[in-house]
Amino acid sequence: MIKKAVIPAAGLGTRLLPATYAQPKEMLPCGRKPTIQYVVEELKAAGVEDILIITGRAKRALEDHFDQDFSLLERLKNSGKMALHKEMRFIEELGINFYFTRQAKPTGLADAIYLAKDFVGTDSFYVALGDTIILSDPLGLFLKDLAKLHLQKGVSGTIGLEKVRKEDIQKYGIIKGTYLGERIWHIEHLIEKPSPDIAPSQLAICGRYVFTPEIFSAIEKTPIGIGNERQLTDSIKILIEEGADILGLEMSVDGRRYDIGNPITYAIAYIELSLKDPEIGDFLKLYLKKLVENF
Ligand code: UTP
Repeated sequence: MIKKAVIPAAGLGTRLLPATYAQPKEMLPCGRKPTIQYVVEELKAAGVEDILIITGRAKRALEDHFDQDFSLLERLKNSGKMALHKEMRFIEELGINFYFTRQAKPTGLADAIYLAKDFVGTDSFYVALGDTIILSDPLGLFLKDLAKLHLQKGVSGTIGLEKVRKEDIQKYGIIKGTYLGERIWHIEHLIEKPSPDIAPSQLAICGRYVFTPEIFSAIEKTPIGIGNERQLTDSIKILIEEGADILGLEMSVDGRRYDIGNPITYAIAYIELSLKDPEIGDFLKLYLKKLVENF
C-alpha cells in the first residue's frame, strides 16, 4: 500500500479567470463540494494517510477547508441542522494528516512536486492533480490499480492514462509506448500537447501518477520547458532516457475523469457531479430536461 500523496495545487488557473482571481481553482465547487474534496476522498479511498498539498498565493482557502471548525459544528448542532452537522464532520472522519507547503512562484508542475522531496522520504508516493477529479467504482480503485502495478513490477513511475478524442489531443501530454495487455503500456516517449497529426497515440496523461523518489533527481536535471515552466513530462523523459522503466495504465471504461481546468470542462464537471449528488441530482435532472425541451 502507498500511504503518502502529493496534491499540486499552486497553479494560477488563468484559463478560469476571473473566477480564480482571488480564490484557488481547486476550491471551485462541482455540485455541493469543492474540487479538492473529491481528490482527497479518492486518495483516502485508496488507503492514503498523509497528504501534502502544494499551495501558492491566494490559496489559503485550501488550508481552511481541511481545518475542522468546531464552533461551526456546535452552532449546527444547536440549531438542529443535524444532517449538515454530520456532513461537516468529514475532516475528522477522513482521519488524514494534512501538510501544506507553498510554491513561491508557479514555475511548473515539476517544481511543485519537487517541494515534496522531504515529505516523501524513501517510499513510492502518489501524485494527484488538484484540478482533476477521477471517479471509479469503487472510489479509489484506479489509484489502487496504479499502485499495485507499480509495486509489483518495481518500476520508477506508473502513469494514469485516458484515451482522448483526436480533437482533444492538443490539450494533454500524450504517450508513445508498447501495449503489454490488460490496459498496461510500457512508455517509451512523452510529448506535451502535440498537434493531432504528429501525436503518437490518443493516450493522454490523466493527472494520477505513482513515483519512486527517483523522480526528484530527474526534476533536478530538468530544464525550463514549454510555457517557461519546468514540465513534469520532461522529468519523466529524463528518467526514461536514463533507462528507468515507466509504465502507463489506462483508466477502465467505467472510470470517469473531470478536468476542471478550462471553462467548458469545468461546466461539464459541475453539471455531471451535481446530477450524481443524491441530494440535488433528481431535481436537477427534471429541471435540465424541461430546460432543454423549451430551449
Ligand atoms: P495546469 O497547468 O493545468 O494549471 O496544472 P494552471 O497553471 O493553474 O492552469 P492555467 O493554464 O493557468 O489555467 C495542473 C496542476 O498542477 C498545478 C495546478 O495547480 C494544477 O492542479 N500546478 C501547476 C502547480 O502546483 N504549480 C505550477 O507551477 C503549475
